[in-house]
Amino acid sequence: MNISEKITLLIVDDVPNNLILLGSLLKDEYEIKVANNGQNALEIAQSNPPPDLILLDVVMPDIDGYEVCRRLKENEITKHIPVIFLTAKLGIDDEAKGLALGAIDYLVKPIVPLVVKSRIHAHLSTKKMNDALYSKVSHTQKIESIVQLTAGVAHEFNNILGCMLGYNEMNEWISEDMTDDNLKSDLAKNTKQIDIAGKRAAALIEKMLIYCRQDTTKENIVIRPIAAIIDDILAELRHRLPNQIEIKVQLNSKKEIQIDAGDLHQILTNLIENSISAMKASGGVMTISSEIVEGLNHHCSACAATIKGDFIELSVSDEGHGIESNVIKKIFDPFFTTKEVGEGTGLGLSTVSGMVHNYSGHILVDSKQGQGAKFKLVFPILIDAIDDKN
Ligand SMILES: Nc1ncnc2c1ncn2[C@@H]1O[C@H](COP(=O)(O)OP(=O)(O)OP(=O)(O)O)[C@@H](O)[C@H]1O
Ligand SMILES: [Mg+2]
Repeated sequence: MNISEKITLLIVDDVPNNLILLGSLLKDEYEIKVANNGQNALEIAQSNPPPDLILLDVVMPDIDGYEVCRRLKENEITKHIPVIFLTAKLGIDDEAKGLALGAIDYLVKPIVPLVVKSRIHAHLSTKKMNDALYSKVSHTQKIESIVQLTAGVAHEFNNILGCMLGYNEMNEWISEDMTDDNLKSDLAKNTKQIDIAGKRAAALIEKMLIYCRQDTTKENIVIRPIAAIIDDILAELRHRLPNQIEIKVQLNSKKEIQIDAGDLHQILTNLIENSISAMKASGGVMTISSEIVEGLNHHCSACAATIKGDFIELSVSDEGHGIESNVIKKIFDPFFTTKEVGEGTGLGLSTVSGMVHNYSGHILVDSKQGQGAKFKLVFPILIDAIDDKN
């Protein structure tokens, strides 16, 4: 991607010829905004969207460039915008003053076009990296807050729900001694509905607690063969498996993944349940497979980290409705679901992602709307696994 795509520069100079000169030099690569005084520059800098970089003349009447820079840096909206000073002469004191105010560079007039362009390009590249880092950090902080909130809500609700279901059960016992048959049957219907809704709420809370309780420091990891775990899951889900869904299991890696059996059960259950939902209407084949993959070079679909090298891959693929490209970006966010209200929590894939990453694994998603989906979990091959490759 071209770094200058949709990037806006604000050029601030009180001399119209300088604005024209710089503007015409940069207009092919960037969207240009101009200001011929400090006040005007501050207003444009606070507009939405703000400029990506400001070229700021130092000597201007009324508010000079230093003062503009100081005001930009003390304002929450504008403080992240990189400022490059434009100046006719540069003494050490001037340079120190500008940098102390938060400017990132100086360009000396008369400008040299090639130098101007390459400096702007370099600073925009740095800004792009900083922005990406900032958004990753704020995303991590957001997720941490969601985990804390979810844990708190789930814990409180669990207690309240336990109490409600307990009283409901007591009502069932009381109704057994009632003599009025009509009243008794009405009460039985009601208590049954409360019980069904209560158990659904309990299942939701259980998912919330599993999502929050992902244990990064498990001491006793119990490893079981993947095949046995898949057998257990399919037996548990048998009653929910429509006839038109065929399941193929192709385990080609002789090596077991070093992951706790309980966690692997949870991970695979979520992926398999998602595939069942996606194929509910159309049916099709779901394939669960494992293999060693060599020379992988991808980015994790959940955390965007680069995945390079050899891995054990465990995948679940289906021929369901697939995932739209604008939905794929959000599927690992906690509580994101496209299911009807009451049908899904949206915690399945965020739980899967948390658990897989706890074991230094990553996730790759291949899917297009209408063309099924494949979720590939890749885990590092531990040293003793290499001999078993073939
Ligand atoms: N195999 C798949 N095919 C198509 N869409 C999928 C698939 N797996 C996940 N998705 C999409 O990702 C969304 C999030 O999945 P996730 O498992 O986190 O939550 P959910 O399935 O909606 O709810 P829950 O897991 O609580 O039942 C789903 O709502 C669906 O839109
Ligand atoms: Mg799910």
